[in-house]
Amino acid sequence: MSVDLDKIRRSVGIIGESGSIQEMLATIGQVSNTNILVLITGDSGSGKEMVAKAIHKNSRRKFESLVTVNCAAIPSGIIESELFGHKKGSFTGASENRKGYFEAADKGTIFLDEIGELPTETQAKLLRVIEQGEFLRVGDTKTQKVDVRIVAATNKNLAEEVSKGNFRQDLYYRLKTVTVKVAPLRDHMSDIYLYIERFGLEFTAKNDIPFKGFSSEAIVVMKKHSWPGNIRELKNSVESMIVLNRGERITDTMVIKHLDLDEFNMNPNLPVFVSDDPDKMERELILKQLLFLRQDVNELKQIMVGRTPSVEEPIQPANPALYLPPPTPSEFVDYGGRTNIEDSSATVIQDDALGELTMDELEHEIIERTLEKFKGNRRKTAQSLNISERTLYRKINDYGIKKKYRDQ
Ligand SMILES: Nc1ncnc2c1ncn2[C@@H]1O[C@H](COP(=O)(O)OP(=O)(O)O)[C@@H](O)[C@H]1O
Ligand SMILES: [Mg+2]
Repeated sequence: MSVDLDKIRRSVGIIGESGSIQEMLATIGQVSNTNILVLITGDSGSGKEMVAKAIHKNSRRKFESLVTVNCAAIPSGIIESELFGHKKGSFTGASENRKGYFEAADKGTIFLDEIGELPTETQAKLLRVIEQGEFLRVGDTKTQKVDVRIVAATNKNLAEEVSKGNFRQDLYYRLKTVTVKVAPLRDHMSDIYLYIERFGLEFTAKNDIPFKGFSSEAIVVMKKHSWPGNIRELKNSVESMIVLNRGERITDTMVIKHLDLDEFNMNPNLPVFVSDDPDKMERELILKQLLFLRQDVNELKQIMVGRTPSVEEPIQPANPALYLPPPTPSEFVDYGGRTNIEDSSATVIQDDALGELTMDELEHEIIERTLEKFKGNRRKTAQSLNISERTLYRKINDYGIKKKYRDQ
């Protein structure tokens, strides 16, 4: 069965055209529709959680819960009761029977983030769930069965942790069989422009400010930063630069100031790829991003209309003070199951975010370009734009798009 990698992309908004992103998508495509245990490795902020969500959303379990557990955020003293639940009276303060995360994730997926932080005793219990599909609530003697797909992630080198005695070797071997490696941003810098445009557009649309983009010199400088915090750092930087320089186009000077870079090492004459016509390149990219957003919104609409959303938030632990939620997805394009978008098409892009272009002009342009891409094939064009052929035909007429596209 062939897997639609574009669908995987859109399901959680994965961006990137580089080899490493393509490879990552292909692996997600291979594993998502199975029950195989998956380990996701990569630096902090590189996109591991996004991969976990993509695996869940493209699996047969997509309408069930995805329970996210940040193993590093739960103190070792209570982690077992958090994961497996406890029986009333099993320890001081256990005044009720309580379900753990595994039970909450039954039939769905559990995402064990920062698994390298799990205490070794808990690792043994996890191995038992993996091998036998069963566990014991703390203080209980009767085992419980669960049907849970486990996805784990770490930014640690687990082999090293094994040799230091911090991680069980048997669990490590179980985990590493299928590994999705997420590359650090510095290894796919060719994608940086796409991220900047997308994060810039999302953020400005959400906050009702015009998006005037980044100058090509600014991008050159950004490509020279090593981005130790990866895509998360890039996203935060894009957003804060836009806020701090409200309304203005981002220049290299602003970037240098923001990233606290050494100006003398920022020689713009160093060879870095920039298109011969930056304005054209930028316009192309904005259009591409718009297309992407439009597809996302259409999918969201279908989700809203078509079915009851699945619960996808991690459940609260016994003590909420100990709970560290995962980063909230952007409100603007919320890929989670629960979204409150009344009229999403109206909020996607403000007209003034795109300078002189109106929504109609943009739509016209997008349709024409897509037709061009598919050499006038209306079926493929409609599919790619996620509209019906009839609507496409009507729009071709409305916009008076060239005759050659009308009759094919
Ligand atoms: N390939 C990508 N395309 C778009 N956004 C991404 C991509 N990878 C990461 N992000 C964004 O970067 C941020 C950090 O990603 P996350 O999955 O939380 O990283 P990690 O779990 O590795 O720390 C999130 O806001 C996420 O949406
Ligand atoms: Mg993370």
